[in-house]
Amino acid sequence: MEMVDLGKSGIRISRMGIGAWQASSAWGAKDEDVVRAISRAHELGINLVDTAETYGEGHSEGVVGRAIKEIGRDDMVVATKVHGANLRYEELQKACRRSLERLGVKEIDLYQVHWPDPWEQIPLKQTMSALEKLHGQGKIRAIGVSNFAVRDLEEARSCLSKAEIVSNQVRYNVLQRNVQEEVLPYCRKNDIRVLAWSPLAQGALSGKYGVDNRPEGGVRDKNSLFTKPNMKQIEKMLRVLRDIASGRGRTVPQVALNWLVRDELVTPIPGAKDPTQSEENVGAVGWRLTDTEFERIEKAYASISLDYLA
Ligand SMILES: NC(=O)c1ccc[n+]([C@@H]2O[C@H](COP(=O)([O-])OP(=O)(O)OC[C@H]3O[C@@H](n4cnc5c(N)ncnc54)[C@H](OP(=O)(O)O)[C@@H]3O)[C@@H](O)[C@H]2O)c1
Repeated sequence: MEMVDLGKSGIRISRMGIGAWQASSAWGAKDEDVVRAISRAHELGINLVDTAETYGEGHSEGVVGRAIKEIGRDDMVVATKVHGANLRYEELQKACRRSLERLGVKEIDLYQVHWPDPWEQIPLKQTMSALEKLHGQGKIRAIGVSNFAVRDLEEARSCLSKAEIVSNQVRYNVLQRNVQEEVLPYCRKNDIRVLAWSPLAQGALSGKYGVDNRPEGGVRDKNSLFTKPNMKQIEKMLRVLRDIASGRGRTVPQVALNWLVRDELVTPIPGAKDPTQSEENVGAVGWRLTDTEFERIEKAYASISLDYLA
């Protein structure tokens, strides 16, 4: 498995990670299946696992903790996130203590601010100062952020004096690419790794759903990607992905994820509900789309119009 730097942290991570939000009622995967998914991904060379205190109100962190126990702490890079409501100095220290406990570790490798909080309006300086304290105490090895625009990244970085922002976790997949405009160039220039969440567009890019076969229940009920008109649009992309997949002896999710890893800066963290999915997703690395295949995907993207108010 190819390894890459996690920004300037000195931590090396696998070319792809695995997301563990699936161990929560939002997705409804069975805990033991998610543990096996993480374990299988690890056997195949994946060392980065992502969770958050908010996933199942801590449940997902507990499940990741079980997987770490099975796999061994030294072999895993554990990334979790602090919720937007816990960004005040004292609250953040407490939230970190709770996450450490649930994960069953002494140190979190990557501690990320889940999103810049729009409701509490907590000064970022306070949050960054709390994170630097945890970093200095050895409770976290590296500081990351998530869903930060360039203006947020700049402010966050300007508040730090002893540590760096090493990563920004953002929504990025072959259908949803807004981050290409500003965030990716900024992160590239400043050596901030981009972790791509929803790299399979929550399964819209798995190839198994269509206009008349949409997923039901859980988090996707509220995701406008899965409306009939949008699924109709996405079908244009799926046709191309299917064709490329069959020509290369790959699967649709593998092609969609390979499109992301084509950019050295980007580390997708696909969520897996079981070991079959995690194994398939690992097969997205170690090969490269040809320029012609890449161009076909770009052309399909240009023909798609998604309506988020549908
Ligand atoms: N920072 C943030 O704000 C944020 C937001 C969202 C997610 N995340 C992180 O990013 C991770 C991934 O994002 P996500 O969970 O939203 O979406 P995703 O990775 O795009 O999609 C995951 C879903 O796709 C399906 N799937 C995965 N692999 C598959 C395969 N090989 N074949 C067929 N179906 C497959 C599974 O659902 P079904 O089998 O039910 O179809 C799975 O639950 C999360 O686990 C979480 O760690 C972060």
